[in-house]
Amino acid sequence: MPQTDKTFIETQFPVSLISKESYKERKAGSGQTLTGLGKWWGRKPLILIRASILGMLMPASSNPQKDREIFLKILTMDNEGLWQRRSTSISAKIIAEWLPEQETKLYFEVNNRGGIRWTKGLEQAIKDIITRRYFDHLSYDEKLEYCVRPEQIEGPSVPAWQDINSHLGTTANNIQQLIDQLGKNRFGHTPRVGDAFCGGGSIPFEAARIGCEAYGSDLNPVAALLTWASINLIGGGKEVQEKVQAVQQAAFAAADEQITEWGVEHNEKGWRADSYLY
Ligand SMILES: C[S@@+](CC[C@H](N)C(=O)[O-])C[C@H]1O[C@@H](n2cnc3c(N)ncnc32)[C@H](O)[C@@H]1O
Repeated sequence: MPQTDKTFIETQFPVSLISKESYKERKAGSGQTLTGLGKWWGRKPLILIRASILGMLMPASSNPQKDREIFLKILTMDNEGLWQRRSTSISAKIIAEWLPEQETKLYFEVNNRGGIRWTKGLEQAIKDIITRRYFDHLSYDEKLEYCVRPEQIEGPSVPAWQDINSHLGTTANNIQQLIDQLGKNRFGHTPRVGDAFCGGGSIPFEAARIGCEAYGSDLNPVAALLTWASINLIGGGKEVQEKVQAVQQAAFAAADEQITEWGVEHNEKGWRADSYLY
């Protein structure tokens, strides 16, 4: 596809869909990737950062519609990606109520408690086709109710990567390879992202996770610590996290022992305070 000298984000950006994904991420509360490290006000949603960096690296072609299709495919925000991200099963009752009556009779039956279930012996492949038909008719918001976030799956499928590579002239099998190749095509090196006001660290964290060289700094040492922790602890994987947790537990146990010995959190009956108001 002939390319223009512009990047995707200079020509278009799927603001509404990214908003919906950002809202979903926020609604996850303590289930968000970085919140467990410590509260920080104004952390940017990770999907917004991923989309922005990708949008700044992906070249715009002379076919804006195809560009958008590929952009969404990379983020698993296209139909196929949403289907891949589906984690909650859709009940037989919901699908049966949506299908035309004739088909409902064919594929569903009433169980002995009056509930609706798939007809016994129906092949899984048929159930999948019907479930997919139901899923495809839903709005983006409705689909999201059944999906995990893009960051919670491996990424686009093998056929999706074939489409992505054929449109972009790349040879990537994952997002890190794609980001690296797009960076090299545009700048001659792996892309570098810096956030001089990095706060809770979401920009350097997501940049590093998708394969950029990432830099962050902040005037506030708590922000700097959170950013360091996001990259080194969350990004460090399970082994590092377990090591840190073991040290934390040992420190907690030592402090607890000392406090108990001093009796500063116990009353004369030996009851331990749950919390203090001050
Ligand atoms: C809104 S937060 C940044 C949020 C962050 N970029 C993100 O996406 O999550 C603004 C940050 O700028 C920092 N800041 C303010 N003045 C600064 C300065 N002169 N140098 C470095 N950091 C500064 C604050 O400490 C605060 O953490």
